[in-house]
Amino acid sequence: MKKTILITGGLGYIGKNIANLLLKNNFKIIVIDNLINSYEYKFKNDNYKFIKCDILNQIKLEKIFKKEKIDLIIHEAGLTKVKESEEKIIEYFDVNIVGTINILKMMEKFKIKYLIFASSAAVYGNPEKIPINENDLKRPINNYGFTKFICEKLINKCEKLGIKSIIFRYFNVAGKNIESNLYYNPKGNITHLIPSIRNVIKKNKEKIIIYGNNFNTKDGTCIRDYIHIDDLAQAHLLAINYLFKYQKSEIFNLGSKNKYSNLEIIKLSENIIKNKINFEISKNKRKGDPDILYANTKNIEKKLKFHPTKNIIDILSDEFI
Ligand SMILES: NC(=O)c1ccc[n+]([C@@H]2O[C@H](COP(=O)([O-])OP(=O)(O)OC[C@H]3O[C@@H](n4cnc5c(N)ncnc54)[C@H](O)[C@@H]3O)[C@@H](O)[C@H]2O)c1
Repeated sequence: MKKTILITGGLGYIGKNIANLLLKNNFKIIVIDNLINSYEYKFKNDNYKFIKCDILNQIKLEKIFKKEKIDLIIHEAGLTKVKESEEKIIEYFDVNIVGTINILKMMEKFKIKYLIFASSAAVYGNPEKIPINENDLKRPINNYGFTKFICEKLINKCEKLGIKSIIFRYFNVAGKNIESNLYYNPKGNITHLIPSIRNVIKKNKEKIIIYGNNFNTKDGTCIRDYIHIDDLAQAHLLAINYLFKYQKSEIFNLGSKNKYSNLEIIKLSENIIKNKINFEISKNKRKGDPDILYANTKNIEKKLKFHPTKNIIDILSDEFI
């Protein structure tokens, strides 16, 4: 029998790409999303259903869970902006933490055993050493990372209820699924570097702002670990199979070997488009931006047999098509 996967926030950038891959792999997909940062999208597939729902609306959640028989939840819904998280402290607690508690409540009540959770490299804060291992110190330096850290702890506690989980700490996700034309297209402002460059190239936006050039890195701009959206989605397919087969909870860094500074990303983008990209360096760092985030991925390679297939040139070229 086909397994049914519910994806919260499943019309966002990452959720939509995971749904797309899982539909191709014969799963039934139910997406819930309140569309606060995404647009309605119809997959042409009979195994797909969308229900508009806010994860803070417990009454509606109960109705959905009563009606649908769900085998596994991928919890992607959340508020995701570092700077905003420092301004809207309680809103981030509400959506990210209370929202996750609501999902866990549904799992307990309707006896759903498997969960995949979208955490973030932001839980590490400013790492003490690079590359970062999963067991390294977690000391988030922004409210966004703090909310993800709390959610991880809550999910770990629910192991006692029989909930098996895979927590993915995503690093920087970018690129586009070319076949289905699925790319980062939020309702709100774009704050990620690579989609901002795409906007400058394709929408004739004036310039990129690089926030700070006095980070503790070789060129002074911050260094991030970039993973292609197709590789990231593939990791979720492996995680589903792992949970069903081994019934074991895990925490994985989900990054790749693509670590680059902001200035390097701009240079590489210029090489690809064979043109200059207009950018400005602002002396004002964004509060809560760590110097370097770069994953050690040995754990996920060993246990999930996950090996990213795309490099930074693939990521940038796909993003700019
Ligand atoms: N994109 C990245 O590089 C990255 C890195 C680390 C972690 N993450 C995490 O991955 C997840 C997905 O990120 P994304 O980049 O796809 O962001 P996104 O904003 O594109 O997707 C999030 C989705 O959640 C929905 N949502 C927000 N609040 C909701 C609510 N109360 N009820 C129901 N739906 C709600 C939004 O409408 C949106 O469709 C997030 O939890 C994010 O924190 C993303």
